[in-house]
Amino acid sequence: MISGTGAEAIASNVEEAVSTGALAPGAELPSIRELATRLGVNANTVAAAYRVLRERGAVETAGRRGTRVRDRPATTPRSLRGLAVPPGVRDLSTGNPDPALLPIAAGQFPQPGSRRRTPLLYGEPAVSAELAEYARASLTADGVPAENLAVTAGALDGIERVLTAHLRPGDRVAVEDPGWANLLDLLAVLGFSVEPVRVDDDGPLTADMARALRHGVRAVVVTTRAQNPTGAAVSAVRATELRQLLAGHGDLLLVEDDHCAGIAGVGLHTLAGATRHWAFVRSAAKAYGPDLRLALLAGDRRTVERVHGRLRLGPGWISHLLQDLGVSLWRDKAATRLVHKAETVYARNRELLRTALADRGVASSGRSGLNVWIPVPDETAAITRLLSSGWAAAPGTRFRIGTPPGMRITISSIDAGEIDPLADAITGAIHGVGRASV
Ligand SMILES: Cc1ncc(COP(=O)(O)O)c(C=O)c1O
Repeated sequence: MISGTGAEAIASNVEEAVSTGALAPGAELPSIRELATRLGVNANTVAAAYRVLRERGAVETAGRRGTRVRDRPATTPRSLRGLAVPPGVRDLSTGNPDPALLPIAAGQFPQPGSRRRTPLLYGEPAVSAELAEYARASLTADGVPAENLAVTAGALDGIERVLTAHLRPGDRVAVEDPGWANLLDLLAVLGFSVEPVRVDDDGPLTADMARALRHGVRAVVVTTRAQNPTGAAVSAVRATELRQLLAGHGDLLLVEDDHCAGIAGVGLHTLAGATRHWAFVRSAAKAYGPDLRLALLAGDRRTVERVHGRLRLGPGWISHLLQDLGVSLWRDKAATRLVHKAETVYARNRELLRTALADRGVASSGRSGLNVWIPVPDETAAITRLLSSGWAAAPGTRFRIGTPPGMRITISSIDAGEIDPLADAITGAIHGVGRASV
């Protein structure tokens, strides 16, 4: 089915097949030798084509398992294996906040043109003075040094900019396992290899982090609270241990992701500043809405300067219209009240679900944030059974590197009346009640 005689032609042909679905996520590509024979080309040509596809994030090569289409190929705009949620099924797989608890939905949205503006021209500072003032106050209050600031289009944009400012393809990066699927996909596309660090309720395990450092990682990415998918949050004790450990590694880049500030349900025990090169990224996505593509980035001077320098040669800066909107939301009393309410609702939902599961003998984690993580013996079976009882959860495979199976339930929008039926369905799905195929 694959055609072409040059590396680029073969790669384009595979990319097209992935895009149309002729090659599904997880599908195995023929071995290099086999395809070379079939196409009548040199094996080096096919090897080069596969390398191009790997670099584009379309396929992955896993040793003896051969080359496969990635679960969420970076060459397609949509996630091809996104869970197909049938009509009538309650979708708890998304990781989204509750739209009803976002200030923008509540109409706390400064109207365009509601205030006179001085047009911003080229050559102005990238970060607005008001945003810088707000960011300095709020980050400093959380113990994050905030002399050097940038603004990026969300957390992942900031993380990518910081990593590419310091690392080269082939470098190793320590990541949480299980950890945020988009980050894992990004690291693969950037050509970095990952060193998994397990997490417990209090954050990354210090012993695993020490092992990752011994293995020569050049960077570490830590989600300080509302860890996705486990809900872990770095405790004060763990933060002290990790800071001491990381401080001994002069050239290490530390990236801290604080994507649930405002709604995490726990305080911040930051690692920021523990190393010479570091960045702390605080996204507005979860408390104010994913569409507010805005994240504050603080870091050491060199790192922040590199981010600004590179930003200048791309989008230039994040529009001050958006920065002003962020500042007005952060300062608005009604918006702040709604964000506090969301934090309380999410904490209550996590607690209710986890208690109901514990009453049924089911273990879970979820100390902070929007998700509860539930270990399961067999992900496919559990997810399928749960779906047949009317609930969709996210399969753990998207988040895991070497850790055991699990599934993620997003609790943001569940109401009290759903807790018992959901806990029953989860318990049944784990113990094999319900149809294992739909
Ligand atoms: C761990 C983590 N970081 C950050 C984000 C949000 O990122 P962004 O600001 O790029 O939308 C998410 C969203 O799911 C996340 O799970």
